[in-house]
Amino acid sequence: MNGITYDLSGKVAVVTGGSRGIGLEIADNLLQQGAKVAICGRKQDGLDSARGILNGGNNLLAVQAYISREQDVERLFDAVLEKFGTVDILINNVGMNLMSASLVDTDLAVWQRIMDGNLTGAFLCSRRAGRIMREKKRGKIVSISSLAGTRATPGMSVYGIAKAALEMMTKVLGAELAPFNVQANAIAPGLVKTNFSKLFWSSPELAELIIRETPAGRISEPSDLVHSVLFLCSGCSDFITGQTIAVDGGASIV
Ligand SMILES: NC(=O)c1ccc[n+]([C@@H]2O[C@H](COP(=O)([O-])OP(=O)(O)OC[C@H]3O[C@@H](n4cnc5c(N)ncnc54)[C@H](OP(=O)(O)O)[C@@H]3O)[C@@H](O)[C@H]2O)c1
Repeated sequence: MNGITYDLSGKVAVVTGGSRGIGLEIADNLLQQGAKVAICGRKQDGLDSARGILNGGNNLLAVQAYISREQDVERLFDAVLEKFGTVDILINNVGMNLMSASLVDTDLAVWQRIMDGNLTGAFLCSRRAGRIMREKKRGKIVSISSLAGTRATPGMSVYGIAKAALEMMTKVLGAELAPFNVQANAIAPGLVKTNFSKLFWSSPELAELIIRETPAGRISEPSDLVHSVLFLCSGCSDFITGQTIAVDGGASIV
């Protein structure tokens, strides 16, 4: 963390999909900054192994939940309120892609699954968290978008549309909740080395192409995203809302 700290002691954070990859890294850093953290995921074994890695003791809650199921999201937030009493920070991190065909060849079922995983879940969580934050007149919502939300990318058509909508949702939440001192922002990474994107970075040809198209000249790690997320969770960003910050080594500017 380069010695920089953010004062998040006592804050309660919900990180959706915190059992691996980017969410796990964010959960780990929120805990290190003193926050109490709840993570969720579909698979119990993933949550169990995350619990071992995070070692958060009584400051960590892991709840098995499907993010696009309303009753699961309600149960997740009920559990957080019961254990920690409030919600100060929501990280809409869950995302997924099925290598979809071109849009005109996409089945409705594929469209719906990708929209559910990337957008409906973020809506359900933002709705519940937003009501809690509006009431207490303080809160932070940070969503994980993607470079694919602004760049039409082969194999990512529906995913890109969902991420573009997530960025619009960030603006809507930002505008609606600003009078209540709640800020909603997003970050948009390029390729990050996780299980999700293994197909790309594990192929030497594809990895070389991506590195060539990234001015910073490398593929990012989850740790490259952490400072921007912590900044958006902290009081340092209280006058910033509705924004999406590209954290992509310059990939979106060339
Ligand atoms: N990796 C990249 O290159 C990259 C680039 C740009 C943006 N992003 C975005 O960053 C975010 C995190 O990606 P990642 O690379 O860390 O992905 P990942 O390694 O696949 O991790 C996804 C996490 O979300 C959980 N999850 C997935 N679907 C879920 C659902 N329906 N309900 C509840 N939990 C669910 C997974 O646990 P279970 O499997 O147990 O459910 C896991 O904890 C996503 O929004 C992604 O779109 C990633």
